[in-house]
Amino acid sequence: MNMKTENTVWHEQLVNKQQRAEMKGQRPCLLWYTGLSGSGKSTVANAVDRLLFERGCHTYLLDGDNVRHGLNGDLSFSDEDRVENIRRISEVSKLFIDAGTIVSTAFISPFAADREMARNLLVEGEFIEVFIDTPIAICEQRDPKGLYKKARAGEIKDFTGIDSTYDVPQNPTIHVKTAEQDIRQCAEQIIQYLLNNQYIK
Ligand code: ADX
Repeated sequence: MNMKTENTVWHEQLVNKQQRAEMKGQRPCLLWYTGLSGSGKSTVANAVDRLLFERGCHTYLLDGDNVRHGLNGDLSFSDEDRVENIRRISEVSKLFIDAGTIVSTAFISPFAADREMARNLLVEGEFIEVFIDTPIAICEQRDPKGLYKKARAGEIKDFTGIDSTYDVPQNPTIHVKTAEQDIRQCAEQIIQYLLNNQYIK
């Protein structure tokens, strides 16, 4: 226990995670999307979220750019702030899981150690690492926000894949290759995993 929490106590709640999950008829989990900027994380995560919603699942999607406007609006793209970005997202995701939700996060999350930290906050089987694997050349060609262009011109510092590291997932739970299939197929691949492993019915 650290100094800041020594005078607080953890209250057991009268409604627990399992009861919340049972009411929703699903196994709560965290779909942790990781990949380069422009790889398609948000697009695929949104497509999956939509399909889950249509199936009557209870979901929530935390998206990198959006969360950086609010909760994490004070954070930069320094290594230190990226770590804090992921730490906060992981803790928020854990709360959503506790609420019985299927939560998706779409952040570059470039450091393997941080993704491991997120995994370790959760119970076995709750963390599903989804690698949105798109070659950087294609991300750069898509460049939906014009950021690669700016990074190449030196107008943005610490840009992932250019002058900041991306640790490629070594053993992702789901490996999605966006250059080889369309968005619908990518989304179906993930839904199929959730069905096969009884997260959803
Ligand atoms: S993370 O590295 O901390 O996980 P996050 O997913 O929250 O990144 O934010 C990435 C998004 O911020 C990118 O998709 C891009 O739109 C924008 N961005 C702005 N500056 C940078 C940068 N230096 N590196 C990466 N992404 C950046």
